[in-house]
Amino acid sequence: MKKTYTITAALPYTNGPIHIGHLAGVYIPADIFSRFMRLTGNDVVYICGSDEHGVPITIKAKKEGLTPNDIVNRYHSNIKKSFEDFGISFDNYSRTSSELHHKTASDFFLHLHDNNFFKEITTEQFYDVDENQFLPDRFIVGTCPKCNYEKSYGDQCEKCGTSHNAIDLIDPKSSITGNSPSLKETKHWYLKLDEFQSFLEDWILKKHKSDWKANVFGQCKSWLDDGLKPRAVTRDLDWGVSVPLNDSDGKVLYVWFDAPIGYISSTKEWATNNNLDWEKYWKNSDTELIHFIGKDNIVFHCIIFPAMLKAHGDYILPKNVPANEFLNLEGSKISTSNNWAVWLPDYLKDFPNKQDALRYVLTVNAPENKDNDFTWKDFQARNNNELVAIYGNFINRVVVLINKYYDGIIPESADLDDEDMKLLNKINQQSILIKELIERFKFREACNEYINIARNGNKYLADNEPWKLIKINPDRVKNIMFISLQISSILAIIGEPFLPFASEKLKNILNFKNHNIEWSWNNLDSGDILIKPGVKINHAELLFEKIEDTEIEFQLEKLRKAKANL
Ligand code: 2FM
Ligand code: ZN
Repeated sequence: MKKTYTITAALPYTNGPIHIGHLAGVYIPADIFSRFMRLTGNDVVYICGSDEHGVPITIKAKKEGLTPNDIVNRYHSNIKKSFEDFGISFDNYSRTSSELHHKTASDFFLHLHDNNFFKEITTEQFYDVDENQFLPDRFIVGTCPKCNYEKSYGDQCEKCGTSHNAIDLIDPKSSITGNSPSLKETKHWYLKLDEFQSFLEDWILKKHKSDWKANVFGQCKSWLDDGLKPRAVTRDLDWGVSVPLNDSDGKVLYVWFDAPIGYISSTKEWATNNNLDWEKYWKNSDTELIHFIGKDNIVFHCIIFPAMLKAHGDYILPKNVPANEFLNLEGSKISTSNNWAVWLPDYLKDFPNKQDALRYVLTVNAPENKDNDFTWKDFQARNNNELVAIYGNFINRVVVLINKYYDGIIPESADLDDEDMKLLNKINQQSILIKELIERFKFREACNEYINIARNGNKYLADNEPWKLIKINPDRVKNIMFISLQISSILAIIGEPFLPFASEKLKNILNFKNHNIEWSWNNLDSGDILIKPGVKINHAELLFEKIEDTEIEFQLEKLRKAKANL
């Protein structure tokens, strides 16, 4: 049955380019899911945009002698282009600096304020006199009271892992100027999160124990077990959405209050541009809202944003939040500041037209249930041994042989034998399994099963050796080639969410518009034959190319240099 899906992918911070960790954790899984849901006939909006507020952006701007606006403009275009380059099929990519977003976030805040969901609290916070600004805990460094590590952050010690308040640090320093900060009183608006404790317990712990991923459920449970407390949703800063109240000069909404509202404003922008009703995607109880995020965003999407939506009263809550764990690179944590990452623009320079290879490796090796490691050697092996040697080889042989034996014209098949029927049946079962796996957010398994289809096709050709039979049993060869083409057409359809570029190429090689029935996923379930004898297919083109040792050595050398420069 056709459903409506609002699919969101975490809005990336606009202070650096996108790297492979972002793609593997959020944007590829969300893209596979969105493409699949569209292909199976659902009404989908896939939403994202740049998260352009927050302190790190203001600090980067200061360091470079620029304005925050300069920084977000630079990276907004860079990030947007990377997503387009890698086939991430957002319906809308917006930005939180837009006027529409400021108004949407500001109205949302006011609505909660007018309905008494905030508490005003005055506290003392660290203040950098030279910079004339309050310091968020992340921007205070000092000695950890627990393990004496001298470079602990205000909110957490990276050495012993303890969370603390900046005020507990020994000899705290501003990480912007290195000065000892002073304490200054300031008033903020706190969301009364404690009032949502029992609602959230009921909704998450009772209703989502079995359908949310264990890592997501576990984090939620531990937040709820600790007991929710009021949480400040405003900050002292001159960059962000201004607090829309009197007596709030120099205060903006906390970036984590306005960013998730960005999903709503991005949907509004898309709907307006397409003459559609945005409310259907956020207020209709039949709509499924799905948030794709990394594990560091779980509390915001499972506890705080749902509490905000619930408090507002007009909105649906997420049906699922399939958060991923983290991807490491060659055994170490990906780090922007240490330049330990594979940036998408750099990847594309070094491997032009190999977006699918990266999409594939990041999918079959995705950190779905635990942190995972990306290594260049594994990337090369999977590209060469799976995409090139299995999938690419199978398609190439099929297309070359059809052209060679029949001048490209698909032959009539005679009666298919038991082995042929068994294979078609098996592939039909595999396509049904892939569908179920995607619906359950198990993209690694789904993609592996997809390559298994190609593996089965490749084995079928190798076992039947049509090139040895063409002279002695041409009728049998017609069947073999017919079956192989049917498998190729299934690969073209199912491949779209995983390998959109190869899939498009393959569909064109096979002349997909001229066959028996529409090449849509729904038409696969019946196991019907998709291809039509008599249709002329095009010439072979390579779907994937081998990656050489020298190319991998070049990447490893880059990383060695990054390590040496630390
Ligand atoms: O962690 C991040 O990169 C955040 N910018 C994600 C924000 S998600 C959403 F709520 F907008
Ligand atoms: Zn410590």
